[in-house]
Amino acid sequence: MPIDATAIPHLEQREAAPVLMVDGRPFTLLAGEVHNSTSSSPRALAEALDQAVALGMNSVLVPVTWELVEPEEGAFDFTTVDFALALARERGLRLGLLWFGAWKNAQCFYAPAWVKRDLERFPRAQMARGQNRMVLTDFHNMSYSALSLFAAATREADARAFEALMAHLAKADPQHTVVMVQVENECGEQGGAREHSAAADAAFAGQVPAGLVEALTASRDTLAPDIAAALDAGSGAGTWEEVFGASAEELFTSYHMASYVEAVAAAGRAENPLPLAVNCWLDKGHKPGRFPTGGPVARVMEVWRYAAPTIDVFMPDIYVPYFCDVCDEYRKLGNPLAIPETATYAYASAREIWAVGHHHALCFAPFGFEDMGKPFDASAGVLFGADVSDPAFRIPQDPSEYRAVTERLSGLLSLDPDAYGTPRLNAASRERADEAALAMGAFTVDVTFAAEGLPGAAAVLKVAEGEFYVLAMRCMLAFRSTDAAHPHVDLLVLEDGEVRDGAWVADRRLNGDEAAIMRYDEPTLLHVTLFAYA
Ligand code: DGJ
Repeated sequence: MPIDATAIPHLEQREAAPVLMVDGRPFTLLAGEVHNSTSSSPRALAEALDQAVALGMNSVLVPVTWELVEPEEGAFDFTTVDFALALARERGLRLGLLWFGAWKNAQCFYAPAWVKRDLERFPRAQMARGQNRMVLTDFHNMSYSALSLFAAATREADARAFEALMAHLAKADPQHTVVMVQVENECGEQGGAREHSAAADAAFAGQVPAGLVEALTASRDTLAPDIAAALDAGSGAGTWEEVFGASAEELFTSYHMASYVEAVAAAGRAENPLPLAVNCWLDKGHKPGRFPTGGPVARVMEVWRYAAPTIDVFMPDIYVPYFCDVCDEYRKLGNPLAIPETATYAYASAREIWAVGHHHALCFAPFGFEDMGKPFDASAGVLFGADVSDPAFRIPQDPSEYRAVTERLSGLLSLDPDAYGTPRLNAASRERADEAALAMGAFTVDVTFAAEGLPGAAAVLKVAEGEFYVLAMRCMLAFRSTDAAHPHVDLLVLEDGEVRDGAWVADRRLNGDEAAIMRYDEPTLLHVTLFAYA
C-alpha cells in the first residue's frame, strides 16, 4: 500500500514560521525533557510521564541510549524504546526521542562498552596530540574524553545503530507516538578548537571543500561578523587556514562534526522519514574549545545547513538570562524555533507563552521537569550551565502555575490550530517589553507589565476581525483601534473561561470593575470581542 506522507509527522512552511504537522494539524510539543537516566527504568519513566500529565504537558523528550540499545555489537535491544512507547500511549502523550549516540554533552558517555574499550578501532579525540583524556581546566576541571570525528568506524557504527532505531520505530510505532527524533546530544569538542591526531592534522592540512566556501559566500549576510571577515580576508580556495584564517579551526571542526551527524541522520532517514533535529550547548560568548566547538551554535549554522542537509531543526538548549535573544538567533536561515531544554526556574512559564506565541516554537521543554518546584543546589548550577548571578535562577518554577499556563496555552492553540505559523498568533513578554504592542489587524493589543517581580507574558490569538482569545499572566491589557476613521474602542464581550475539546467554555461574563482594569496576575484565558467607532 502506498504510504500517505501527510500522515507522517513532518514540517510544513507557513507564513510566519514552519510548523510541525502531526495527524494533519499543527502540533506543538508543550513538553518536558526527562533527566538523563530516567528512560533506563520503566518505573522512573512511568513516574516522570505521570508528572508530565500533571503539568499539563502533551509530550515528553526521552533519551534512547546507544549503550542500552546495542550492548553487544550488532545485537540490538529496543526494550527501553518499547516501554517508552507503551507508557506514553497509556497516557496519551507524544514523544520526542533523543539519540544519545557517540556524542552526549561533547563527550562519549553513552558509547557502548565494546566501543569504549576498543581504542584502536574507535579512537578518542586527541585534543592534544597523544592524549585520549584530559582535564578541562577552564570548565570546572571536568575530566574529558570524546570519540574522534576522524574515524570512519565510529561514524559507521553510530549510524548503523541509529538506522536500526529508526527502522524499529517504523515498525513499532505506526501510530506515530514519536513525532521527532534528535540526533546525538549537544555534540561538539572541548579542550581545544580541533583535534590534533595525525589523521586530524592531515585533514586540517587538506583542501576546504569548494561547496562549503560557495555556501558560506552565498549566505555571507547572515554569517557571524568575525567569520564573514575571515572569509573576506581568505584565499577563497586552499587549506583551512588559507581560506578561513583565524576561524579555520572552528569551521574545520564544525564541518566535520556536521558531516558526522549527517552520516548518522541520513542512515536513519533512509528507514524512517520522521523530522530530525540536533540540539546545542550554546557558545555563551566563549572561545572555541571552551564551549563544545563544532556543535550547531548559531554562529556556524550556515556550515551545518551545508554539511547536514538531512537535519530539519537546529535547537538551542537555553539556560542563560538572554533567553529571547537566543530564540531570535535560532530563527536564522528559516530555522523553526524548538527548545528541547531550558531551566525549570521561575521564568519558564512566561517563556513558554512567549516562545510558543511569538516564535510559534515547535517545542518548549524544561529540562529535568521531574524536579520542577524543588530548590536548586550548587551542582544544578554547574550542570545547567546557568549563570548563577541570574536572580531568576534562585526561584524554582511553581509547578501549579506551569500546569495552568501549559493547559491554557494548549487550549488556546486548539481553538484554531490553523493560526499556528501565521501572524494571527503573537505574544508579548516582559523580557521583551519594547515589543509589547501586538498588531492584530484593525486593533492593537497593548500589553504592559509590572517592573517588579516575576516576568509576565500574554499570547493573543485573533480568530476574526476584532475577536480574540488571550492568555494573560502578570500583565495588563488594553486595546487600541488602528483605524483612524474609527479611533474609539468598546468592549462588546469579555469572558474568562477554559477550552474543552477545542471549544470555548465561558465561565464569568466580565464587566464593570473586571473590565475597567484588565489586569491579570494568575494565568487567565479570556475571550474578547471589540467594536471600533468614531
Ligand atoms: C544539557 C544536556 O543536553 C542534558 O542532557 C543535561 O546534561 C543538561 N545539560 C543538564 O545536566
